[in-house]
Amino acid sequence: MRDQMPWLWDLVDIVNSFLFRIRYGDKLDLVENVICSKDYFKCKSSDNFYVVPIRSVNSDDLVEFFACQPTESFRFFKPHGFDIKSIKKLQKNRAFLGYVVKDITKDKIAGYCFNRSFFHGKGFRGRMVDINYRGKGLGTTMNLLLNKVGFGIGLRLFETVSKDNVASYRSAISASSFRVIEELPHNELYLEIINDMKQNDNINKNLIGGG
Ligand SMILES: CC(C)(COP(=O)(O)OP(=O)(O)OC[C@H]1O[C@@H](n2cnc3c(N)ncnc32)[C@H](O)[C@@H]1OP(=O)(O)O)[C@@H](O)C(=O)NCCC(=O)NCCS
Repeated sequence: MRDQMPWLWDLVDIVNSFLFRIRYGDKLDLVENVICSKDYFKCKSSDNFYVVPIRSVNSDDLVEFFACQPTESFRFFKPHGFDIKSIKKLQKNRAFLGYVVKDITKDKIAGYCFNRSFFHGKGFRGRMVDINYRGKGLGTTMNLLLNKVGFGIGLRLFETVSKDNVASYRSAISASSFRVIEELPHNELYLEIINDMKQNDNINKNLIGGG
């Protein structure tokens, strides 16, 4: 539909964004206050990072971030266009829960992640780490961030991952429990991410209640 009837795709996006904001806007504001606070994002290699919602990022900086990544980075990562028009459209879409992770010391975008979400309660995760920041735990920590946002507002989360994309597959399984919904062609898996936060809440409740 996106290629054949782009106007219909855009219309669906606008309606979805509007309904999503009505259903989830208040909860999202609360969760974003937490994840965008200064000391929230800590990955195993460093805590010199902070999270910025896509709507507050300079569009040119994001376009440049994508332009600087090597071609191989896009082999399994084609969620949307990377030109200025596409980025600006995403920034206006309140159901597209996109975030960048910035390196405080260099004021540079080190990673980008999103839950592409729908008002009926589903979100689809995706992420990319700058080539110079790979292998330091950023991808895994961004998955935790996406879980925090998605589960925090009550979404069910899904992801398609290729078994050939080892880093992506491993960061997906390191950060979350999941169940395989379907094995897709080309070695891809369609996953539902399990809400461990719920279990942790229950564990916490049990601990508190059970004394
Ligand atoms: C997938 C991606 C986000 C991972 O980010 P990252 O910050 O490098 O990943 P992490 O450092 O958190 O490592 C995650 C796991 O992958 C492993 N890993 C990282 N790079 C690897 C590599 N090149 N080969 C094999 N394993 C690798 C790590 O050892 C770690 O495994 P562990 O949890 O078992 O210890 C990054 O490689 C990327 O941006 N790829 C291009 C875009 C993409 O394909 N996105 C996914 C599709 S939505």
